[in-house]
Amino acid sequence: MDKRPVLFFDSGAGGLPYCRRFRVRNPAETVVYAADRANFPYGSKEREELIRLCTSLVSRIAEIFDPKLAAVVCNTASVSALEALRKSFPGIPFVGTVPAVKPAVLASRKRHIGVLGTSRTIGDPCIAELAARYGPDCAITGIAAPELVDFVERRCDRADREERRSVAASYIEKFRAAGADSVVLGCTHFLFLLDEFKAAAGGRGPAEPALGIYDSVEGVSRRIEALLDEGDLRAETGTAETAGGGLRRETPSGGILLISGSAPSGAVWQKRAEAFGLELRRLADIGPGEYRKTQAAVPL
Ligand code: DGL
Repeated sequence: MDKRPVLFFDSGAGGLPYCRRFRVRNPAETVVYAADRANFPYGSKEREELIRLCTSLVSRIAEIFDPKLAAVVCNTASVSALEALRKSFPGIPFVGTVPAVKPAVLASRKRHIGVLGTSRTIGDPCIAELAARYGPDCAITGIAAPELVDFVERRCDRADREERRSVAASYIEKFRAAGADSVVLGCTHFLFLLDEFKAAAGGRGPAEPALGIYDSVEGVSRRIEALLDEGDLRAETGTAETAGGGLRRETPSGGILLISGSAPSGAVWQKRAEAFGLELRRLADIGPGEYRKTQAAVPL
């Protein structure tokens, strides 16, 4: 039994759908979701810089919350920094997020898949390696879409349905034109447009069948669960409130949304925190000892 929180982090809002799926599946667990807003976007940064930024973020959060596991809910950070993080924090099990190339390759009838991600992820050899492992005969069209990351992070909440649809449809059209029949959402931010991608990917008669849309949300949650089981790290079975006792300042939701940076959090982040059932905090505002560091038996 381990009541410490599970840490999720991304450059911004992208990993929130991953965190939500995990919480729905595991209501007894407490989560800390960190949005590294101060360093957004990750996708345009070099590997070495990402290693430095992610290491410093995890180090600061580990000091405060002592997470029992960390999920890097960012493809860019995972392909760039996951190995380094595992080396730097040997006491924390890490779960990474990689584009769901495997199911897309296995399902592709035309033997041509599309991957949508950040420049860093699309340029990383991991995409070709995954495809070579699961479908060496499969062609890949990779599209880097930093502007789409920016849209989701800054404007998507305010955009109307029509705009969201046309933004998603513009990428699906590119993949159709290239001849792909399966599209991998290889950046966690794009999950905010999942419905729109699926709608745009619908079939248009026998000549233009539907495209499959693939993501890693379920897979990441299951991997976290497997590691919690293997390490005997599950919180006591029970309600979210009882598990929330792992944090000294109990939150009604059993979860915290932390944002880095000195900019004011703003209404957008407050709304996001509410929508995902989390308490919004700025990392810079958290004082020493404010949260319980370990599941200490001694009262604090
Ligand atoms: N959400 C991140 C990913 O999955 C990256 C977004 C960014 O560029 O910061 O790759």
